[in-house]
Amino acid sequence: MPAEQSTVPQHVPAHLVYPFDYRSDAAIKENLWDYMSSMNARPDIFFSPDLGGHWVIARAAIAEEVFSNHELFSVRSVSVPKLESPVRLIPNNYDPPEHGPYRRLFAQNLFSPRALAALEGVTRNHARELFDAMPLGQCEFVADFAERLPIDVFLAGMGVDPSHRDEFLPWVQNVFSGTTKEQFASGMTEASTFLAEWLQEQLKAPEKNTGGMFQAMITSEIEGRALTWDEMHRITVMLFLGGLDTVTSEMSHAMYFLASSPAHRDRLVERPQDIPKALEEILRRFSIANIGRVVAKDTEFHGVVLKAGDPVLIPTPMVGLDETAFEDAMTVDFDRGRARGVRHLAFGAGPHLCPGAYLARTQLRVMLEELLPRMPGLRVQPGAKIEWRTGADFMVHALPLEWNAGPSS
Ligand code: HEM
Repeated sequence: MPAEQSTVPQHVPAHLVYPFDYRSDAAIKENLWDYMSSMNARPDIFFSPDLGGHWVIARAAIAEEVFSNHELFSVRSVSVPKLESPVRLIPNNYDPPEHGPYRRLFAQNLFSPRALAALEGVTRNHARELFDAMPLGQCEFVADFAERLPIDVFLAGMGVDPSHRDEFLPWVQNVFSGTTKEQFASGMTEASTFLAEWLQEQLKAPEKNTGGMFQAMITSEIEGRALTWDEMHRITVMLFLGGLDTVTSEMSHAMYFLASSPAHRDRLVERPQDIPKALEEILRRFSIANIGRVVAKDTEFHGVVLKAGDPVLIPTPMVGLDETAFEDAMTVDFDRGRARGVRHLAFGAGPHLCPGAYLARTQLRVMLEELLPRMPGLRVQPGAKIEWRTGADFMVHALPLEWNAGPSS
């Protein structure tokens, strides 16, 4: 996304102004995690003149407050800079109290244990198929696996014919890694149009659709009434936006780390029961989502003057490395947090805490359970140059991996 004209409003004191462009900063592309960690030296809340000007929340405890306080921090825009989306997403673009009924619909119906139960088997089958389709002993992990599994799971949950999988990929790429507003808009419009037409078609014979999430959506009520077509459409687009690129991105970081750290990987192969705990530490250490808010009213917050309308960025990759919250934050320690596991903000907090977290964790866990034992000696292909993709979700651009395969392995 090209930088908007830089602005520092009058209420922002000079000592709080620092550059930070999470969409195209060369320093992030160069060395993502060291750069995020270097933010420990900056003030708890600072102002970046980039991307039209916005506040950055650099500490975990304050980020949690921002996520949780909808009266001060609204979801009128959840991206920085504000990107005009053709659809108001349900539930993400609603503040409480309007948000509540929609949110309950997600928690109790769409993501109910019943709707999700069937998806673990689907996830495992697709993970195995994707592995079997890889060339012997090597893959480009992002294209061959991480971009594909979340789409397969989404299509299964919604009962969309799997043959549409390859159509979805360019839309996801345009929305999340497009470098222009036009690419973002075109990805959104194409996905939204496809999903609208698909939904119209499904509703002609809904009993034929076997998707658990689709069935939950069409049979659910909010406040005593069925969902309108428009609401169903905006929920479907939300699931598309929330559930694909996020999981792909997290998978790319998890596998890059495990391919680079044999000791951590060997432990998970030997003790698969540690995978859930290890995943929480991976989610903290490599949080991916950059989430926006807008200041709802003039206020003083942690000693900083904020004005209504100021954009605020909560970079979860940065707050996951906050040394005041996590000792030796750059180190991956699967035993961090001991038995209860580490508490992190990878899925946000407060009213908008990610309702897809269970599904995301399932996909990540199944990925490790299925792939690690099949990839002995896993490593990054020698000479491969790893680059980061910046933007709403931080991702490993491409991840060439290899492992010992064949009769002798
Ligand atoms: C590793 C994967 C994922 C990460 C890191 C992630 C992260 C997040 C974060 C940080 C939020 C809070 C947004 C905010 O406060 O404005 C969120 C919200 C949301 N996520 Fe996820 N997510 C992931 C996977 C998923 C999946 C698989 C789905 C569904 C298929 C999903 C659906 C949603 C929805 C619907 C919301 C909006 C909730 C609301 O506004 O109440 N996410 N996610």
